[in-house]
Amino acid sequence: MFSQMMSSLRPSPIQVMAERTRQAVATGHSVVDMTLGEPDFPTPPHVAQAAVRAISQGLTRYTPINGSLPLREAIVRKFGRDNDIDCTVADINVACGGKQVIYQAFLATLNPGDEVLIPAPYWASYADIVGMNGGVLKPLATRPEDGYALQPAQLDAAITAKTRWLVLNSPSNPSGTAYTPEQLLGFVEVIRRCRHQGFLILVDDIYEHILFDGRRFATLAALAPDLRDRILTVNGVSKAYAMTGWRVGYACGPRPLIEAMTKIQMQVNSHTSSISQAAAAAALDGPQDEVHRRCRIFQDRRDLLLQRFGAIEGLHTPKPEGAFYLFPDIRAFIGRRTPSGALISDDMAFADHLLAQGVSVVPGSGFGMPGFMRLSYATSDNQLHLAADRIAAAVEQLG
Ligand SMILES: Cc1ncc(COP(=O)(O)O)c(C=O)c1O
Repeated sequence: MFSQMMSSLRPSPIQVMAERTRQAVATGHSVVDMTLGEPDFPTPPHVAQAAVRAISQGLTRYTPINGSLPLREAIVRKFGRDNDIDCTVADINVACGGKQVIYQAFLATLNPGDEVLIPAPYWASYADIVGMNGGVLKPLATRPEDGYALQPAQLDAAITAKTRWLVLNSPSNPSGTAYTPEQLLGFVEVIRRCRHQGFLILVDDIYEHILFDGRRFATLAALAPDLRDRILTVNGVSKAYAMTGWRVGYACGPRPLIEAMTKIQMQVNSHTSSISQAAAAAALDGPQDEVHRRCRIFQDRRDLLLQRFGAIEGLHTPKPEGAFYLFPDIRAFIGRRTPSGALISDDMAFADHLLAQGVSVVPGSGFGMPGFMRLSYATSDNQLHLAADRIAAAVEQLG
């Protein structure tokens, strides 16, 4: 009944844990949900008002496939202002979230067997989207002691004639790793040496505005304008403006690639909602102070959790530089037993143990890194303290 592709589509570990969490809550358990990949803040009021205005002004018809002109103009301004990327409205694709942009990029370019290099741990959807489009994921394992940062020599060794894409996501979901300009220039050197036909780089900047400790955001296309014909810079309003439900993502890249992605989109969903597009333009063009204020809140929450986790023996948590996730090493707990005698055989068993104690997390295997776990701290300080109390108690129970 189903296509061959379906057999390679596994349920997302995030969805599995979210479903188990729902079940636990439905049966009366108190659970701190740390599985979620979305800010807990509301969409800023001026953005919501722009959407209401769009409705009352009748902006309720089809827009151009690659995005309404006012939104693409706002995106061009954003790339110039924030990223030092000079582009025009013809270089932009707007879709239903960064996810659709990425899907279209891979669908437009991958042939069966083409390889996609992605530093691990990685956002689980990259792996599925690559597989759905016939590509072969080549994870590049990083180490907690390097802050989960890819090393240029690793990249150099991994590129082959079959490599079609390299994916760089900074700050990263799930590790929070953010590359400095110097680190990115290390990759640029490797990429410049390898000019084989059709090698592209997908730069996923969706967490750009959630960057801590005064770091300045850097992106590949600005650092290496000579590589612009090979770089697709992806971004969106979901994380920066708490607009996950509005479904607006966008990219700037080589015009032939943008045109191919737009051609695909024409037969998929035409475009994202005209109202969401008006809201996204207001977000990009509007005041940015709230974005910075929320970033400081995320930083305080990171510090709160790091301080609490530092007191839990066996839990090793590298300090993230951005995004809103922690990615602790939990290998010290594998092989131990719960009070009922159940073996913590892997990170999924550990996640189940934590859920039984009232905290839901996503096992690291879902991000290509077994033996770790991801926690989202897009929740209140009270909930974070409660989670830390429960994790400490859960660990203490292990024999
Ligand atoms: C790394 C990364 N890229 C892209 C996305 C896509 O976000 P959206 O489709 O909401 O724009 C996400 C969402 O979780 C993400 O974590």
